[in-house]
Amino acid sequence: MKTVHTIAETRQQVRDWRQAGLTIGFVPTMGNLHAGHISLIDEARRHADKVVASIFVNPTQFGPSEDFDSYPRTLEADSEKLAAAGCDLLFAPSVDEMYPEKNRTWVDVDDLGDYLCGASRPGHFRGVSTVVSKLFNIVLPDIACFGEKDFQQLAIIRRMVQDLFFPVRIIAVATAREANGLAMSSRNGYLSTAQKQQAGAIHATLQALKARIEAGERDYPALVQAGTDQLTQAGFVVDYLSINHAGTLAPATSPDSHLLIAVAAKLGTTRLIDNVSLSIARDR
Ligand code: PAJ
Repeated sequence: MKTVHTIAETRQQVRDWRQAGLTIGFVPTMGNLHAGHISLIDEARRHADKVVASIFVNPTQFGPSEDFDSYPRTLEADSEKLAAAGCDLLFAPSVDEMYPEKNRTWVDVDDLGDYLCGASRPGHFRGVSTVVSKLFNIVLPDIACFGEKDFQQLAIIRRMVQDLFFPVRIIAVATAREANGLAMSSRNGYLSTAQKQQAGAIHATLQALKARIEAGERDYPALVQAGTDQLTQAGFVVDYLSINHAGTLAPATSPDSHLLIAVAAKLGTTRLIDNVSLSIARDR
C-alpha cells in the first residue's frame, strides 16, 4: 500500500489507474481503525479494482466543546490494518492541505441535518458534507462506502451526491458490532472494560423497541419513553432516543412504513450513537 499526504500525489496515482482502465473505490475515515472500518474496505474491494482510504480528522465537523484535540490519531497502526486489508492507497492529509485558507465554501444539505445528531451538534453535518465533497473531488471515486452506524451521515451524503450530481455511487455497509451488540466505534476506546459491557444496553434497547414495533405497537412517544427509561436505568445520560422516518429522518408518524430507531447517549464523558432500521406493513 502506498501512503501519500498531498492532494497532488493522490490525483497523480488515481490518474495513472484511470488511464490503465481501472475503477476506484473510496473509504473516507478519521482513522483509529477498527473492524467496522475494515468491513468498508472489504466492501469497496468487491466493487472496484483499486481502493483508496483517507484518514483525516476533520476539524470543521467538531463543535468547540467536542473531542477534536483528543480524537485518537494512530496512523502507524491504521496503515498496517489497511495494508493487511488490501487497501491500495492511503491519503492522510494535514489540516493545512485540506483547508489551506479560511474556508468560505460550504456544502449544507437542508432538512436531513435538522434531526437526531444535527439537532445536538450544530454545524457537524455541514463540516461532514464539505469535507466529503473535497475528498470526492480529490479522489474522483466510482464508488464510496459509508457505514450504516452513522445512518444520518449516510442519508446526507446520498442526498448531497444526488443534488450535486457527484459521479459516485454510494454503498451502505451494515454496522459491525462487538459480541455484546455494542457498535464498533473509535470512541469505544474512551470506555473502560466495565463501561464496554454496560454499553451493550444500547443495542439491546434498540432491539427491544424494534421487536415491540414489529409486534404491532404504534405509540411511538410511549416507546421512546420506555427506551429512554431503560437506558437511564442502565447508567446512560440520553441525548436523544427517537423513532423517525428512515427516508426524511423526521419524527415518525403512524402511517410510516420505513422506520429508523436512533439513539445518542453518554456513558461518563463518552457519547455513543447507534441505530436500527425496520420496515413494517403499512397500517390501515
Ligand atoms: P469515521 O467515524 O472514522 O467513520 C468512517 C466510516 O466508517 C463511516 O462511513 C462510518 O459510518 C463507518 N463506520 C464506523 N463505525 C462502523 C461500524 N461499527 N460498522 C460499519 N461502519 C462503521 O464518519 C466519519 O469518520 C467522518 O464523518 C467522515 C465521513 C470520514 C468525514 O470526516
